[in-house]
Amino acid sequence: MTSTVVILGSPRKGNSEAIAMAIANEAKAKGSTIKEYRINSLKNAKGCQSCYGCKKAGKCVVKDDISAILDDMRAADNIIVATPLYFGHATAQYRMVEDRFFGFLGGDFVPNIASNKKVAVVVTCGSGIDGARKTAAEMEAVFGGFFKMEVVGSIVKGGMMAPNAAENDAAVMAEAKAIGQKLA
Ligand SMILES: Cc1cc2nc3c(=O)[nH]c(=O)nc-3n(C[C@H](O)[C@H](O)[C@H](O)COP(=O)(O)O)c2cc1C
Repeated sequence: MTSTVVILGSPRKGNSEAIAMAIANEAKAKGSTIKEYRINSLKNAKGCQSCYGCKKAGKCVVKDDISAILDDMRAADNIIVATPLYFGHATAQYRMVEDRFFGFLGGDFVPNIASNKKVAVVVTCGSGIDGARKTAAEMEAVFGGFFKMEVVGSIVKGGMMAPNAAENDAAVMAEAKAIGQKLA
């Protein structure tokens, strides 16, 4: 059985989450276990403390609610990351977790997380599609560039102001399904 971790960067149950979960549901249909994390709901969560403890320990040494996410990512076959675009960037919630991925790089900056994982990226926005594309490319570069994982697909979708815009958009839901079918 495979496992899938979904990291949700929106503070609301909206479009990026709907698309991410539509992707995840395809993995679930194949028998994958799904663990989703809404970063905004974590009670005790910190960004990277720049302690460089990970460079000695081989993993992030900060102990908080993000630790379980990082452990689950190491064990996962699939990773789905999703965020809205806020002022041209991923949300603060997503970025807080992303910086903690520093622990996936060893002292020599070689990844200490297995690369045999499939990754899907979701960025939704209002009208700032260029910023959303750039943000998605940056998120892809973390997984595909630093960690040498396979990014199986990205969804970058504008016009997503109302929280239910994505679930009412058959085309984007079909796109999500197609990407989900590429997951393990
Ligand atoms: C604080 C804030 C900043 C935003 N900044 C942008 C932006 O720079 N460009 C844009 O196109 N949309 C922007 N939006 C709109 C969201 O990106 C858009 O509604 C997104 O689909 C929300 O995702 P969600 O439904 O998953 O929460 C912003 C929304 C908020 C609340």
